[in-house]
Amino acid sequence: MINKIKEHIEEAKAFTTEDKTTLEEFRIKYLGSKGLLKDFFAEFKNVPNEQKKEFGQVVNELKNTAEEKVKSIQELLESKTESINLFGDLSRPGNPINIGSRHPISLVKNQILDVFSTIGFNVSEGPEIEDDWHNFTALNLPEYHPARDMQDTFFIQTNPDVLLRTHTSSVQVRYMENNKPPIRTISPGRVFRNEAISSRSHCIFHQVEGLYIDKNVSFADLKQTLLYFTKEMFGKSKIRLRPSYFPFTEPSAEVDIYWGLKTETDYRITKGTGWLEIMGCGMVDPNVLKNCGIDPNEYTGYAFGMGIERIAMLLYQIGDIRMFYENDVRFLEQFKSSL
Ligand code: DAH
Repeated sequence: MINKIKEHIEEAKAFTTEDKTTLEEFRIKYLGSKGLLKDFFAEFKNVPNEQKKEFGQVVNELKNTAEEKVKSIQELLESKTESINLFGDLSRPGNPINIGSRHPISLVKNQILDVFSTIGFNVSEGPEIEDDWHNFTALNLPEYHPARDMQDTFFIQTNPDVLLRTHTSSVQVRYMENNKPPIRTISPGRVFRNEAISSRSHCIFHQVEGLYIDKNVSFADLKQTLLYFTKEMFGKSKIRLRPSYFPFTEPSAEVDIYWGLKTETDYRITKGTGWLEIMGCGMVDPNVLKNCGIDPNEYTGYAFGMGIERIAMLLYQIGDIRMFYENDVRFLEQFKSSL
């Protein structure tokens, strides 16, 4: 009998579980009102006197072992449920991460790049901090040229040769200096002008520049390309080119698209004319080609430049340019696109 109890002690010591029901079964088996211990204590009176002492000791040991076991496993299981309560169910799926949206300027920029990439233009970029040569002189705007005043410039420190580019036309120069014709490139980027900030203009904005240089490029090529662009971008198929002046193109023109006069907004944004100016363009001035190491007797080309904010304001009907830079998420969250 004593040996049998000792076996139970070993068994109870080795017992382990992570399951409450199994633990309860273990408790009932030893400590329950009809449990083994009850039987062993009842047996006590039948044990011969000389064994009573040892019998009593082993039965007590079994009782203590079983009680301690139940208590320690119970505590362990409770601490586990506690940590589940504290951290929640650790196996549950994670919280969904809110997907951001692209900035409207990026959306419009990507759309423009997309249209031109389908007709063979690559994308090029240049530095925002420029020197005088690339921003002005190479573009046929020598020192003291009155047209420099058209673009109020931010100079860095007092050095007149270090400035924030006033247009992306500077990338044209860099691209021509480093690549041989045929050239078909489109250059998006940020530009800077020392202008008073208002609902229509800002001191930082974005432009996209286009440049095409090859043999026999004509003004007709320019016009067809721009027509293709306005159809793809705005779904409008009527444009007009008004004579204009830019030092880096000859002849130069401003491009208007016929927006129409269907709604009140159309009236407002076209000032009642139905026409809307969207960019400047022209045939690259032979002087500019020469400045960039391209022979104007062999090659001709066209260039154009447009402001991204202006186009984004048109497409999304945004009345104030400052909205683009305020980073108000209520504004930004409204723009969703795959581009
Ligand atoms: N750089 C001009 C501006 O910032 C835009 C422009 C006009 C770019 C005519 C050109 C162009 O390439 O041919 O106002």
